[in-house]
Amino acid sequence: KRIAIFASGNGSNFQAIVDAVKTGELKAEISLLVSDKPEAYCVKRAEKENIPCFTFDPKRFKNKEVYEKMILKKLEEYNIDFIALAGYMRLVGPTLLNPFEGRIVNIHPSLLPNFPGKDAIGQALAAGVSKTGVTVHYVDEGMDTGQVIEQRSVEVVDGETHDSLQQKIQKIEHQLYPFVLNKLLNT
Ligand code: GRF
Repeated sequence: KRIAIFASGNGSNFQAIVDAVKTGELKAEISLLVSDKPEAYCVKRAEKENIPCFTFDPKRFKNKEVYEKMILKKLEEYNIDFIALAGYMRLVGPTLLNPFEGRIVNIHPSLLPNFPGKDAIGQALAAGVSKTGVTVHYVDEGMDTGQVIEQRSVEVVDGETHDSLQQKIQKIEHQLYPFVLNKLLNT
């Protein structure tokens, strides 16, 4: 199966997925990176890995439908079967959701439905919870509202900082995302 990864930032999850393909843990092909941030580090990672990259600047388009139609064309051009959002900081609209229904997933750094949206790690710290975690879920039109596929919890300890919690969460993400993708694509 041919996966497109959508990312807006650092791309450590993108990298973990690419690495899992190399080790054989994930049987799939990472065929395309889509990014709404042409300057983001995920784009550099894709270049280094020789993975085709499609970047666009949303501000240059009239609306979401227009740029998503353009993304859809690219996905068709690359015969993409499945989409994995990995730090893609935009809501996906019907132009992409309809053709990819049930074939588009996201990873989020909390135990959804708790702490959806931006800075879920900061939200968890502010709420003072003793446990947060990671969720992989199907994507729908809402903000982190789609059906949950897998979750892992992470303890919040005394003296936890945003940095320390983020490190623990990302470590789990980098294992969980390739594992879940392999399950969805190969079973
Ligand atoms: C991850 O924590 C992911 O859960 C969230 O955005 C972050 C992306 O990190 N959706 P990276 O760009 O993969 O390093």
